[in-house]
Parts: sequence; structure tokens; C-alpha cells
Amino acid sequence: MSDNYSSAGYSGSTKSSPTRVQWSTRMAFILAAVGSAVGLGNIWKFPYITGEHGGGAFVLVYLGCILIIGIPVMMAEIALGRRGRHNPAQGIATLAREAGAHPFWKIIGVMALLCGFMILMFYTVVAGWAFAYVPKAASGSFVGENGDTIGSMFGGMLADPIALTIWMTVVLGLTMGIVLRGLHGGLEKAINLLMPGLLILLLILVGYAMTSGHFMEGVSFLFKADFSKMTGTGFLVALGHAFFTLSLASGAIMTYGSYLPENVSIGKTTMIIAIMDTVVALAAGLAIFPLVFANGLEPGAGPGLIFVTLPIAFGQMPFGSTFGTLFFLLLAVAALTSAISMLEPTISWLTEKFKMTRFKACMLAGSLLWLGGLGVVVSLNIGSEWTLFGKTFFDMLDYLTSSWLMPLGGLLMAIFSGWILKKTVMQDELGLSSTIMHQLWLFTMRYITPLAIIIVFLNVLGIVNF
Ligand code: TRP
Repeated sequence: MSDNYSSAGYSGSTKSSPTRVQWSTRMAFILAAVGSAVGLGNIWKFPYITGEHGGGAFVLVYLGCILIIGIPVMMAEIALGRRGRHNPAQGIATLAREAGAHPFWKIIGVMALLCGFMILMFYTVVAGWAFAYVPKAASGSFVGENGDTIGSMFGGMLADPIALTIWMTVVLGLTMGIVLRGLHGGLEKAINLLMPGLLILLLILVGYAMTSGHFMEGVSFLFKADFSKMTGTGFLVALGHAFFTLSLASGAIMTYGSYLPENVSIGKTTMIIAIMDTVVALAAGLAIFPLVFANGLEPGAGPGLIFVTLPIAFGQMPFGSTFGTLFFLLLAVAALTSAISMLEPTISWLTEKFKMTRFKACMLAGSLLWLGGLGVVVSLNIGSEWTLFGKTFFDMLDYLTSSWLMPLGGLLMAIFSGWILKKTVMQDELGLSSTIMHQLWLFTMRYITPLAIIIVFLNVLGIVNF
């Protein structure tokens, strides 16, 4: 019982501990990291932002961001996690101390913990929508309904604080239930079951879209680049989404990296994770856009794309209730494996730093997350007027994390691993097969990533306008 409530992820000392719990296999780590990366970002957000930014050209820019920025930063984050062998805060503090750097750098870990915790507050609520749509689809609620009815179904759900709270509680309860069982008994077991299920469901849906008669229209929307439709904002959205979709700078990947055995190649596994994440996002697009076109719907419908437009399609197609149920089940599963990875960093911090048992840590974090989730729920309806700087609590969490904490975390991580750590540290950890590859990675960390992120910041601050 090395991974029961009290001991998983707990090393009991501030030094790296060889007895720290580790993934059982390389595959377990890959599945868990893919589970973290693949989530609402791939199936809900990627299709709708692609729709909003005109399709093919946006997809190309997004793929470029994954390749040039996402992959090198993910390698750095996994390596920092493994080298630190702790939760993000203590891990980075250890590395900074070893490098003789200022303790200030610990902020990377603290920000990552905060960022993951804040994302989780609204992620459980949005994941709750997906859970709520499973029984809705299964009971045939969309059959034969028109756009207005389905639109007000979504609006009606958002206006109902009790229903939203119940679904948010279900998601949070499941997440806590899995995480408190520890790395082997909880996370690995759940992920081994959920990830293959997710891939099978997605394949079935793409298969269905192929038969819809408008498959090629979907393909050309996704892959035919028309740069006249691409705006400056599109570039920024693509960069921000590359961070979000790979779960970067929010503690999850760093914490998962801290459980990674020494002999696993970080370069190779990162490639696999990024490719899987991209394939799932593109597959989600291939499953969704043919249906959107087959039903004469609007690809740029925004966040409601899958909760409003898709149910209209499900309501009209043969076996629509079955496919609808499968689709929302897929979304719920994907969201759950991401939520697990968002909770784990906080739990590893509470157990290591404060010597709490996993059970206590889960209860404490869970209670705070529940209160935060309640705040998000209320900000969608009765409290939608309560704003700070014109933003509701939900908007504020989303804005602070995706426009500030994630890019800033990415920037600091790039500087820390490119400039502050001794060169040999990352060379050892990454173990890239050739010097050229390592030089390429180092150049990206030192120049490309910081520059790209600084440009984003200047834009957010309104200093540079695209
Ligand atoms: N990658 C997740 C998705 O695409 C979202 C996400 C962002 C995330 N940051 C995270 C998930 C941190 C886990 C941990 O839906």
C-alpha cells in the first residue's frame, strides 16, 4: 500500500527523495499527461475558436505555436518537475537553491499552483454542463427541436443555480474521489479506463461525420488556409490556446513530471503527448464541422457551438440521441481526466509541505474549490451583476489565468530554464540525442518563447495593437 491516502506523492523531506512515488510505466505517464492535455480545450474550445477565426489559416498558426513554443516549453516543464522531485513550489525552490539563484524564482511554482487551482474553480462548472447534457441527450430532449428551443435549453441551464451547483459538485466529487486514492490506485486506474474510452468514442463520432455527406466541407474548412481571414487577434488566441491545451504553466505537467522515472526520455514523450493532443483537437473538429455544415449551421457561433449548435444537429440526425449521448460523455470524460491533473499539484503541495494526509488535503482543497465553484455558478445567474472591473467572478478567473498567469508562468519558466539554471542541468534531464537538438531547444527557450510571450503581453496591455 505505498500509494494509499497518506503516502502517495509524499517524500517527507525537503531533499529529493528516491522513495518518492513514481508512475508504474512510461505509458502510464503518457496516458496521464494526454488525459491532462485533452479536455474541454480540445473538444469545446478549439472547434469554436477555429470557427470564430475563419478555419484553416488559424489552424496552421495554432499548429505552428504548438510546434515552436508549446513543445519546447512542455519539455522544460516536465524536466523542471522531474529535477525538482517535489510539488511545483518546493521543486522550483530546490532548483533555484541548487543553481545559487535568488529565492524569487520560487514564484514560478507558486503561480503554477495558484493558476491550476483557479482554473479548476471554473473548469468543474463547465465540465458540469457536459455532464448535464449526457442525460439530456440520452432522454431525447433535442429530438425535432428547433434552434430557439435548444438555445433556451442552454440558457435555462445557465440560469439555474441549483442544477449548476449539483453538476459542479458531481464533477468535483468524482475528481476528489479519484485523486485521494493516490497515484496508482486512483489516477492511473481511472486514466487507463477513461483514455481508451475517449479515443474510441471520438473515432465513432468522426466515422459518423464521414457519412454525413458534408465531410469534405469540414475537411476543407479545417485545412484550407485562407490567410485573408486571419487577424492579429487570431495569432494571440492561437498562442494562448497552445498553452491552455497542453496544460502548461499551471502545475499539472510539472507535478506529473515529478513522478516520472529517470530513464524515460522527455523529448520523445513530449512529442507523443503533443501529437496526441493535436490529433484529438483536429479529430474533434472533423467530428463537429461536417455536422455543422450538413445542418446549415454557423461555424463561428462561439462558446455555444457544441452546447447549442451540435444538439440541433443531434436532434435532426438518425440515432441523434445515441450520438449526442456519446459526444457529451466524451466531453465529460475528457474534462474529468484534466480536472484530476489540476487538483494533483495542490494535493502534492499540501501533503509535502504541511504533511497532511491525502484525505485531509483533498477535503481541504475540495471545500475551497467547492466555494469557488459556487461563486462561478452564481456569477452566471443571480450574481451576474456583481462585477469587478466589469468582469464577473467567472470572467475574472478565466481572464487572470489565461491572459496573465499562464503566459507569465511560461515566460518565467523559459527564462529560468534557458538562462538561470546551469546548462548541464537541462542537458542531463532532457537527454536529447544530439547537441544540435539541444541547442535548438535552448535557443527557443532563450529567445523565441520569451519574445512571443512578451508580444502577447504588450498586446494585452494595449501597448501593441495587431
Ligand atoms: N489542457 C486542458 C484542456 O485542454 C485545460 C487546462 C489548462 C488544464 N490548464 C490545465 C488541465 C492544467 C489540467 C491542468 O482542456
